[in-house]
Order: sequence, then structure tokens, then C-alpha cells
Amino acid sequence: MTTLPPTGLDWSELVPHLDAFAGADLSWRDGKTYAYVYDAGREVEDVGTRAFARYLFVNALDPTAFPSALALENEVVGLAARHLGGGPGAVGTFTSGGTESILCAVKAARDFGRARGLPAGGGVPQIVLPTTAHPAFHKAAWYLGLEVVAVDVDPVTFRADPAAMAAACGPRTLLLVGSAPSYAHGVVDPIRELGALAQEKGLLLHVDACVGGFLLPYFRRLGAPVPDFDLSVPGVTSISMDFHKYGFAPKGASVVVYADPALRRAQYFACADWPGYALVNPAVGSSKSAGPLAATWAVLQHVGDAGFLDLARRCLEGTRRLVDGVAALDGLRVLGTPDLCMVALAGEGGVSPFHVVDEMKLRGWFLQAQPSFRGMPASIHLSLGPENAERVDELLVDLRASVEAARGLPTGQLAAVVGQALAGLAGPPGPEDLGRLLALAGVVGGQLPERMAPIHELLDALPRPLCAAFLADFMAGLFTPGQGAPAPAPREAAAVG
Ligand SMILES: Cc1ncc(COP(=O)(O)O)c(C=O)c1O
Repeated sequence: MTTLPPTGLDWSELVPHLDAFAGADLSWRDGKTYAYVYDAGREVEDVGTRAFARYLFVNALDPTAFPSALALENEVVGLAARHLGGGPGAVGTFTSGGTESILCAVKAARDFGRARGLPAGGGVPQIVLPTTAHPAFHKAAWYLGLEVVAVDVDPVTFRADPAAMAAACGPRTLLLVGSAPSYAHGVVDPIRELGALAQEKGLLLHVDACVGGFLLPYFRRLGAPVPDFDLSVPGVTSISMDFHKYGFAPKGASVVVYADPALRRAQYFACADWPGYALVNPAVGSSKSAGPLAATWAVLQHVGDAGFLDLARRCLEGTRRLVDGVAALDGLRVLGTPDLCMVALAGEGGVSPFHVVDEMKLRGWFLQAQPSFRGMPASIHLSLGPENAERVDELLVDLRASVEAARGLPTGQLAAVVGQALAGLAGPPGPEDLGRLLALAGVVGGQLPERMAPIHELLDALPRPLCAAFLADFMAGLFTPGQGAPAPAPREAAAVG
């Protein structure tokens, strides 16, 4: 039941409740959270917060009513285009995040192609991408009625395999994708080769630089061997970059940039078929706060070029210490050669990465579990930011202890039980079967257990489509009014609706 207090509450009364809601959240400001948050310290956070609040209620829907939003976007997108090797004609759009930027790029490709009779073979257009591409492309294809052809990556480097991608192209192929870098392993795909392939076959090529676009040029300036990845590479037609990742702006900040304005034009939606205001939406949303835009502009201006070089140096040096430390540690290995400050660690000698993640959590660290997929082993993901970099030496000490603890813990048993349970079913598993599997993994009444390894093992053991359905069912269960642990109701509550 949704409730309102009979009379309104003062800000001072609300604060304790807001803080209580956040009681179980990750405490991300201590440098011990290696995913989800990209922390450059209190000062940067403060600038972003203030600028965000200043523009929070400005509606960037209409740039003629709020020219401030227009001017800010032109500044931020212009800076991004230059940063990403765009020529003088490059244009773009500020969006709410990587997923929206990718949706825009795919929509632009579809409608640009449609207007020109592409794909040449007719039919449902295809996106050919490496298996390591972000799920946002699958989501875009699903929303926009396109088809995904996922191509295995090199099993050692985890980079896209251009020859295999060339072989996967057919008469319906419209768009190629490469990542700079991929999230799971932090490696940049061979964008030059993909660009050449796109040109040879007359295809569009989107580079997903959502995580790497901002810092990779700084890594290069610091002497790291960063492969070419941006709009200066022949054949690249669009690129996405998130400011809310390694640009250290608050969430809700990304950009998609196009080499050719005609491609961006295909992204726009305008509707004159109603009696209301003139509706033109460059991206997915319509009414939108200018807060993220102002915060991005302010963070960029506050940190400045020398500041970003310094933040990048901290990330690069921290990553090198981490990679060297893991090399000297028995039981874990780095997958591939990360190009950014994102690292994946697989278990060796029977060490389960899932148990290591649990053991690290007991020691106060948040690392992310990654499943095995099409020949790629299960792993531990670490996205390392400047504040994380300060704690790498401590992290390595606890990582060593966690690996030793994980050695003594059982693995693989649940996978075997799940396999048997699935084999014994007469038809496709229903919600009650999923409930039984969850109970086997220790989930009771929607509450996750302290140790998540059995859950990750269970997810790993399920066929992929079943795993996706399972995750969606689980999440839908969480997003049910009355679920979760709400803060105590402020004063007496009155029922609404
Ligand atoms: C490579 C890559 N692309 C796209 C995205 C999607 O970004 P967002 O979560 O901002 O929608 C992510 C998110 O981590 C990513 O790593």
C-alpha cells in the first residue's frame, strides 16, 4: 500500500529516513567497492552534486525554452567529439547512459539503412557483434526489431575476431560492433580491422567506448599501449562514451557521437500528429532534467586536463600493481591483457572465483562475480577507480587470504544437482521449478543468503535463456510493493490509492 503522511514533513525529519533507506547499500566511498561507482574523491563529487542540483528542475526537452541546456549540450558534445577523434563535421547527443547511447546508435543505423534500402539483401537487419559486447546491443535489437549475430572472441585475448566476424556477415548485415574496451575483460577490440571490414562490406560500425572513451586517450599519453579505437579510425561511423563512468560525473551522463550528421539525423524522432506542443526527441526520453548535463560540464571544467591525466595515472598505476600482484598469487590469474583499469580474474587449481568474491565480501570488499560463457571462464570483475587504486596493496593481502579460504570450500555440487533437476522435468521449467532451484541455492522468501557462491553456481549451470528468464522473475519479485526493508514510516501514514 502506498502511503502519505497526513501532513507534510520537514526536511530535517526526512533526512534520517532517507539515510535509513541507504543503510544496507554498498559503502562505496571507502575505495573498497570495485564496480558500479566510479569515485574520484569528495571534491569532484561535491562539484557534480552542486551543479546537478542547480539544474535539476530545468527541462532539457525544449532547448528553445531552456537555451542553457542547449548551450551546455553543445559544449559537452563538442568536447566529446574532439576527445574521440571526430572531424569538424562530427555531431552527437547527450544521453542518460551507455544503454541509451547504444539504443540511439542502433536506431540511427536501422533508420539510416532503411532510408537507403539497406541492408542490401532486404529482410530483418542484423548486427554482427563479438560475444563480449554489452547486453545493451541485444536490448536495442530486441526493442528495435533487429537480429543479433554473436561471434566468438579469441579464446586467449578475449578480443573480437575480425575474420570470424567477416565470415558471420551476410546479405542482411547492417551494423558491426566493437568495444573499447569490453566490460567483462577490459580489452579493446581490433577496431582498425573492424573498420576495414566495415568499409570493405559497406557496413556501419559502432564503437562502444562507454567505459573507455574518456580515460583511454589519457592512458595513451601516459605511455600505455592503447590500440586505436575512435572516430579517427577509417570505417568507424559512431561511438558512445559515458561521462558517468571514467569521466567521474554523476549517473545519467553519456554521449553518442557520429562522424556523419546524416546518421545522427536518423536517430531523431519528431511527431506532428497530435494537437499538443511540437515534439522532437533526439534520444529516447522526452522530458529530462538538465542536472546530469550541468554536472558533467562542471566536473569536466573543474578537473581539467591536468586533473584527468592525474586521475588516469592513479588508475593505470593501481591496475599495474593489481595485475603484478595477482601474477605473484597462487590460485588466480588475469584474463587477457587489460587495456583499461578493468580486470577479470579467473580461478586456478580448483579455486572458485565465486567463493573468492564471498570471502572478499566478508573482509569488506565488493568485487563482481562474472559467469562462464562460451568458452570464457567464470571470473571476478574489478573496475578500478582512483580511490580504489589507493587500496590495491590492502586488496592484494585480502585476496591472498580469500583464495586460501576458498580452497577449502566445495564447488560444483549445486551445478550437478541443477543439471539432474532440469533433466528430470517433463517440460520447460515453470516458476515453481525455479523456486525449488532457488531454495537449493539458499534463497528463502526472496532474501539472498550471505554467501552468494551457490547462487552464482546455480546461474552458471542454467541454460542461458533460462538463466535470463530466471533473473527477470527474481527481479520482478523484488520490485513488488511491500518487498525489501523500508525505512520506518515517517509519523503516522495515510493510505493513498
Ligand atoms: C562497455 C559498456 N557499454 C555499455 C554499458 C551500459 O552502460 P549503462 O549502464 O550506463 O547503461 C556498460 C555498462 O557497464 C558498459 O560497460
